[in-house]
Amino acid sequence: MLEIQQKIRNCKRCPLHKDMPDGCHPVPGIGPHDSKIVIVGEALGENESIMEEPFVGRAGELLNKILKDCNLSRENDVYISNMVKCRPTKNNGKSNRPPTSDEIQSCKIWIWSELKKLQPKVIITLGAVASKTLLKLKPSTSMKSIVGIAKYVDYIGSTIVPCYHPSYLLQHGRDKLEETKEHFAFARSVLDEL
Ligand code: URA
Repeated sequence: MLEIQQKIRNCKRCPLHKDMPDGCHPVPGIGPHDSKIVIVGEALGENESIMEEPFVGRAGELLNKILKDCNLSRENDVYISNMVKCRPTKNNGKSNRPPTSDEIQSCKIWIWSELKKLQPKVIITLGAVASKTLLKLKPSTSMKSIVGIAKYVDYIGSTIVPCYHPSYLLQHGRDKLEETKEHFAFARSVLDEL
């Protein structure tokens, strides 16, 4: 796993690495290498690109709260990663933008490598990019039609639980927070079956 993480830090597969802040690198996942739950987000935001750690900004604060409320420890129970290991930006680096399909395609090798190594029991995908890519769904699939519907996928050997992205919850979906906690609690309950 350390070798994969080092390769991710040195990745130059697409031009996004050039937009990382001075001295900062693409960011691999973080967490215990025997985690039975892997959480996959979309791409780095500004704070994540500077701190070189996934989910350390506002979305990360909400993710931490959801984890805590579901009796999951960020440090001990989950490995947290992203589909895209850099920060896609617009307006001369001032704001975030969603990753393009080319960027997702060229970065996909890394999340597959991390998952192959970790062999998690459950993968919580946060938002449409991670959910649709890992479930191999059509781009036209709506998040609403798949959220909370757990699916075992034999090409990874894990159950994927698609959840709303914390950034979406912060912007539009506060009322979806309780529902999201139920989805995380379901993901946790799969571990109790071990
Ligand atoms: N949003 C993500 O999808 N990932 C992060 O690491 C931070 C915000």
